[in-house]
Amino acid sequence: MTERHSPLASGAATILLTGGAGYLGSHTCVALTQAGYQPVILDDFSNSDPVVLDRLEQLLGQPTPCVRGSTADTKLVADTLKQHKAAAVVHLAGFKAVGESVAEPLKYYANNLGGMLSLLQAMASTDCRTLVFSSSATVYGDPATVPITEDFPLSHTNPYGHSKLVCEDMLAALRHANPGWQTGVLRYFNPVGAHPSGLIGENPRGTPNNLMPLLAQVAAGLRPHLDIYGQDFATPDGTGVRDYIHVQDLAQGHVAALRALLAGQPSFTVNLGTGRGQSVLEMVKAFEVASGRSVPWRLAPRRQGDVASCFADTTLAERLLGWRATRALHEMCADAWRWQLSLSGQTQPTPIGRPGSRPP
Ligand code: UD1
Repeated sequence: MTERHSPLASGAATILLTGGAGYLGSHTCVALTQAGYQPVILDDFSNSDPVVLDRLEQLLGQPTPCVRGSTADTKLVADTLKQHKAAAVVHLAGFKAVGESVAEPLKYYANNLGGMLSLLQAMASTDCRTLVFSSSATVYGDPATVPITEDFPLSHTNPYGHSKLVCEDMLAALRHANPGWQTGVLRYFNPVGAHPSGLIGENPRGTPNNLMPLLAQVAAGLRPHLDIYGQDFATPDGTGVRDYIHVQDLAQGHVAALRALLAGQPSFTVNLGTGRGQSVLEMVKAFEVASGRSVPWRLAPRRQGDVASCFADTTLAERLLGWRATRALHEMCADAWRWQLSLSGQTQPTPIGRPGSRPP
């Protein structure tokens, strides 16, 4: 275990932020700090880079304490909770690549379920029973209709989705056994974008799985084209429709959830999305406008497991948390593009729009 120390702001409630150096975690760290909380990051850097800590310091003007380690280390988590007198935990640490979870299920069950179990044991042993948990719209499987409300049937089609559902069930069992547990389960739709400073964002290792980083890499000339997975879905233009939400709005959703729990609000499960759906083709156009670059694409077969349309009904989050997403699609694309430029060290990416590379 290594630890980066910094003086904790006096009077600020301390929040253990697992996965705090990751994509969602780093933005949530900024939002928590700016809301007056003192996050303490726990991260094993298995899918993040320690340089994020320096970027956070640049953004926040102060270092954020960070413990290097895994949530699977129950003693480390318990010691950290005690040492920092944490009032609550925001649990974001976990693996999230669907395809990888199908190829390596044990890795996903060990990390996502083993990590959760160990974290909950550590919390119980230190009497810290307030938790915000990162779940996913993947728990709705293939929804019969949209928009999706929280009472829709739940299902899973891969070990990643299964791990999220089991984690939600673990929390339900704990609440049933001991009403002292206060949990806020957040079902994310499609987080995209980056901090407008260009200092933090998503940095996928290897080939990205998700649409937005791929759009950015194609626009930057790092990939020749985007494969659009299917144009025969039952959607207005035939391509998949998703609820893309700016990562900063999502981070603020965590702050709203935490604030509600710490104010004594009963446990809840809410969708975090914008309530609007965008098709892949709409995303391509929006990204071209934001970047001023061409995004060549070609049609490809459907990706296994993809659903036609998935977007949130956000009424419950608005009612319970007083939260709603405010950032528009052009901000999501502009911020993702700025981040892509800073990642590739480019200010003037090479234009690659080749005539004829796009289907008519
Ligand atoms: C995916 C996961 C989901 C996970 C979420 C967040 C799958 C099946 N689902 O959601 O469980 O919670 O990421 O990490 O992997 N698309 C293309 N070309 C591409 C990439 C994507 O056309 O190269 C399309 C997809 O078909 C989809 C849309 O873009 O219609 C968004 O895809 P993606 O960003 O991967 O998100 P989801 O599939 O919604």
